[in-house]
Amino acid sequence: MTSGRRSGCRSARCVLCRRYVLLGLIIAWALVLESCSFFAGSAAPEPRPTLPLATLPASLGQRDIAEFYPTELASVGTGRQIYGKLCAECHGEEGAGDGPRSRQLGINPKDFGDHNLRDDVPPSWYYRAITKGVVGTAMLGWESQLIEQQRWDVTFFTWSLASSAESIARGRELYAEECAVCHGSDGLGGGPAASLADPRYLAGRSGEELLDAITGRVTNVDHDWSSELTNAEQRSIINYLWTFLYAP
Ligand code: HEC
Ligand code: HEC
Repeated sequence: MTSGRRSGCRSARCVLCRRYVLLGLIIAWALVLESCSFFAGSAAPEPRPTLPLATLPASLGQRDIAEFYPTELASVGTGRQIYGKLCAECHGEEGAGDGPRSRQLGINPKDFGDHNLRDDVPPSWYYRAITKGVVGTAMLGWESQLIEQQRWDVTFFTWSLASSAESIARGRELYAEECAVCHGSDGLGGGPAASLADPRYLAGRSGEELLDAITGRVTNVDHDWSSELTNAEQRSIINYLWTFLYAP
């Protein structure tokens, strides 16, 4: 009764069982290889510099804090690799919204290189779109496939497409001349100056909001550069500010 094939099958010597185990191992290994080649990097976070937090001024209310913010410096280089593998087919190699699949989408992805289209939203919005998707469009969330670090990398890769290297370089100079005296060279100037480089603040600001701030919206200090800096110069400074959060 107790002997026979059914109990014998549990034996490690059973040829059939060993085949199944082998098959299982082969499948598991294939999945590991598949995920390695699918994602740009390994799924373990790479060591990165931590973004410094400041003491936020009391004038910043809870609604000024970004919905999502990075905790470490994002890498545009890693973001570019992920983008090429997962995003370019719809968004286009250069982010112009003209990937091979774009015509089937019903809605054209925006041109990431156009700062007029970017400057309405903060980086936390791009991160939200990449993490959760955009309801009612072909843009699905990547939360289960990319770790947080990879999602910030690709967020700032797409973000950086509207900031040219020349503009960032010019912005760095102008920032040193006009802003560092109060905001500090690292954007974390103390005192009443808002902590520009704090990711909780900066990831939640749109380009338009930052432009407003340097053209008179901050009323209790002399904080209006609209007559001293051209539009392009103001934008350069803003483009430079974002690089407090990512390595271009
Ligand atoms: C199947 C096509 C498709 C793929 C793949 C895709 N997207 Fe999208 N994406 C869209 C569409 C369509 C929209 C909505 C239109 C728009 O807002 O540009 C969108 C919206 C976005 C937005 C929001 C833009 C905004 O300002 O509202 C971001 C950011 C974005 N995608 C980034 C990415 C990244 C990064 C990847 C790869 C990880 C990716 N997308 C993959 C089609 C796609
Ligand atoms: C004279 C000192 C001073 C200089 C120079 C200065 N700022 Fe400020 N800035 C401040 C102070 C003080 C605040 C905080 C005001 C407040 O919270 O009401 C501030 C706030 C800001 C804010 C946040 C606005 C907000 O709505 O919270 C931004 C953005 C900003 N500054 C950008 C800049 C840039 C860019 C420059 C250079 C073009 C610059 N600032 C130069 C003192 C300065």
